[in-house]
Amino acid sequence: MSGIRDAMVCQFGKPRGLLGRIASLIMQVRPSNRKRNLRTVDVVDIRPEDNVLELGFGPGIAVAEAARRASAGKVCGIDRSELMLEQARRRNRKAVDAGRVDLRLGAVERLPEFGVHFDKVFAVNVFMFWEDPIAVLRGVRGQMSAGGTIALTLQPRSKGATNDDSRAAASAMEAALREAGFANVRSTMFEMAPVSAACALGEVAAAPATAPRALQAMPSPVASVVLPFPSRSC
Ligand SMILES: C[S@@+](CC[C@H](N)C(=O)[O-])C[C@H]1O[C@@H](n2cnc3c(N)ncnc32)[C@H](O)[C@@H]1O
Repeated sequence: MSGIRDAMVCQFGKPRGLLGRIASLIMQVRPSNRKRNLRTVDVVDIRPEDNVLELGFGPGIAVAEAARRASAGKVCGIDRSELMLEQARRRNRKAVDAGRVDLRLGAVERLPEFGVHFDKVFAVNVFMFWEDPIAVLRGVRGQMSAGGTIALTLQPRSKGATNDDSRAAASAMEAALREAGFANVRSTMFEMAPVSAACALGEVAAAPATAPRALQAMPSPVASVVLPFPSRSC
């Protein structure tokens, strides 16, 4: 991969400066990006009273849709990019001012308290940036309500990516969700061009979920899956 392409790819992991603005513009206008965000909001089935959390909200497209649906709940989000915080807050200005949307600057690895338990949590094309996805997901699970749902969506965007890469991404995300203690883990594919987006789902069991002994002893399949997206090195 060329230096410029590498630099641009890293911008999607933490948009900043001029290149970050270009990355943000791509996220806002690219039909596949809008579509996978809306499909993800759709799949978690947000109800009016739900409290919702988005991990890595970028320019805030999904936040806007989630806030429209969670009309009597709260929509919170965290992103490590100051540029994305500024843009997402601007996009959702009315709901932010009304106190219905709470967007924070920070890393998902150090999730702050938002003062609510979340019924729905989602992340779109963010999973591949996490150094330790299991630790991140355990932290998130600790702030979710019993019966809450999480969705992790990933559409491989590297050159030449295929639906096999999407399936590999689904396996990696499912494995991470299971190891983090989520129940009823499964995945679905959003049929899209140029390749399908994988969406892995999990739920918080009513009683605290503990993995069976045999499962705990198994080596993690997460680390062995090479994600079809350059990422963690940025
Ligand atoms: C590829 S963008 C996707 C943005 C948005 N979800 C979308 O689909 O339009 C990834 C976003 O996740 C954020 N991000 C990546 N890793 C993060 C981390 N560890 N903690 C907080 N934010 C993170 C980046 O700053 C960036 O805004």
